[in-house]
Amino acid sequence: VQRQGGGRPAPAEPVSVAETQARLTIVYGSQTGNAKRLAEELGRRASSAGLVARVVRADVYPLRELKQERLLYIVISTQGDAEPPDDARTLVEFLGSQRAPKLDGLHYAVLGLGDSSYPDFCAIGRQLDERLAALNAQRLLPAGEADVDVETVAQPWLEQALQHAREQLKTSTPLAKVTPLRTARSVPAWHREQPFEAPVLLNQRITGRGSDRDVRHLELSLEGSGLRYAPGDALGVWPTQSPALVDALLRAVQLDGEMAVRVAEEERPLRAWLSDRRELTQLTRPFFSAHAERCGDAALRELLQPASRDALATLFSRWQVLDLLRHHPAPWTADALVAALRPLAPRLYSIASSQAVVGEEVHLTVSHVDYALDGEARWGAASRYLSGRSENDTAPVFIEANERFRLPADERDIVMIGPGTGVAPFRAFVQERAERGASGRNWLLFGNPHFDSDFLYQVEWQQALKNGQLHRLDLAFSRDQSDKIYVQHRLREQGRRLYEWLDSGAHLYVCGDASRMAKDVHQTLIAIVAGQSGRTAEDAEAWLNQLIQQGRYARDVY
Ligand code: 2AM
Repeated sequence: VQRQGGGRPAPAEPVSVAETQARLTIVYGSQTGNAKRLAEELGRRASSAGLVARVVRADVYPLRELKQERLLYIVISTQGDAEPPDDARTLVEFLGSQRAPKLDGLHYAVLGLGDSSYPDFCAIGRQLDERLAALNAQRLLPAGEADVDVETVAQPWLEQALQHAREQLKTSTPLAKVTPLRTARSVPAWHREQPFEAPVLLNQRITGRGSDRDVRHLELSLEGSGLRYAPGDALGVWPTQSPALVDALLRAVQLDGEMAVRVAEEERPLRAWLSDRRELTQLTRPFFSAHAERCGDAALRELLQPASRDALATLFSRWQVLDLLRHHPAPWTADALVAALRPLAPRLYSIASSQAVVGEEVHLTVSHVDYALDGEARWGAASRYLSGRSENDTAPVFIEANERFRLPADERDIVMIGPGTGVAPFRAFVQERAERGASGRNWLLFGNPHFDSDFLYQVEWQQALKNGQLHRLDLAFSRDQSDKIYVQHRLREQGRRLYEWLDSGAHLYVCGDASRMAKDVHQTLIAIVAGQSGRTAEDAEAWLNQLIQQGRYARDVY
């Protein structure tokens, strides 16, 4: 497998038509790494099967080669509300545009990844799948739509895709000789499917008493695990659901938790399935529709209609599985319930420490998400789980690399925009750069409700400023005055400085809320670039897109 991506885009070597005819091209667009991992797995399996395959990240794929491809697989995720991953923006835009060529000789298949707690689940994958067909390409198998329990759908899809690739490449021009694997990828001892039980060393609330947010600084030990991470990487955490929530759910469906339930060769008590194998704190569309079927409630069916998309999204943002079961009771058997609920997926937290500084520890900044609904507490599965862990407890964890969120060369300046717990990876960045003695300047923009209670890591930032490890700190405490002040307001005040930094090669990072903050910040950046450089808004946006493409404007948003 030729691997491209991960580093600087290498200039693509021209390929002959004969070559493309005997080759499988796998293009991926990935935000958190799942699509990349699957694309690489497909590539590896194809080359083990004797096929010539190349795996290419979407933003380094030369679009002019599309017309010559004979066999193309696309593995692509959808972010939140129908957004492409940053590395696939150009590809998605190109294929959707008038400029896209007719692709008559092309055979293709698309594996979409997404999160079915969003109503527009896998929208980008579906969009590409339909678009390629509209461009006359031939679909080899239906688009896969993998949920956050990625492997459930992805593995059978990969299997089929591989079969088709074998048939396709056998029947075209003779196979070129097999490109051997350049490096055997070493699989770390601990990974997603086999997490490390990390002892909790510290769990400390870092918001003040007056705060309405419960933000924790957690330190876990990786000692003896051999796990390594780089600044920008995330820690995957497998939560266990709260016993009180599992009990409430069992009561709502009137089932006995001790009942044995068998799923795919494995038999466990219902309670155990619900505690650590099934999603309970997020509603998903498949479960919602299975439930609507069961209770035969017209109002629920109505919500599944395209016209009710926004109403369903609002409902999903408030209701959890328990709320649906209580408000619209339906008869469930234990087996059917376990089969219908989405398998639990691990949660990813941006790592807040640099291993160069903390050694065999990993630090997290966790906001305990909780809110009241009908007078009862509701919470996020992993934040509740982690907040409840104390010293001597352990938590099952693994490292999830994030190649798209990396520090630049030491002499480059960086601008970090991280309101709320979005500040986490920047603690890692500043630690790492201080340790390395990097000469580039570090500029942090941080925001939260109140200076007094919500200034996360205040002492550390002030120390870093004093030591010359942080060169600029702009703060936006949104609720300390009558008008809201957000990070983008500070950014706008510093528009001239920001443009100067960017124009002279600074890297820009945004971490935190995707649904509003990252979008508002992006709009502000467009306005700043336009205002400072005299570009039109359109050109300013194109300029920023170029930064994204060059890996100089990276987002870790959720
Ligand atoms: P608020 O809750 O007072 O509205 C971290 O959550 C910080 O981000 C808070 O101070 C929050 O302010 C702020 N915030 C909320 N919406 C935002 C947006 N669209 N852009 C930037 N910051 C936002």
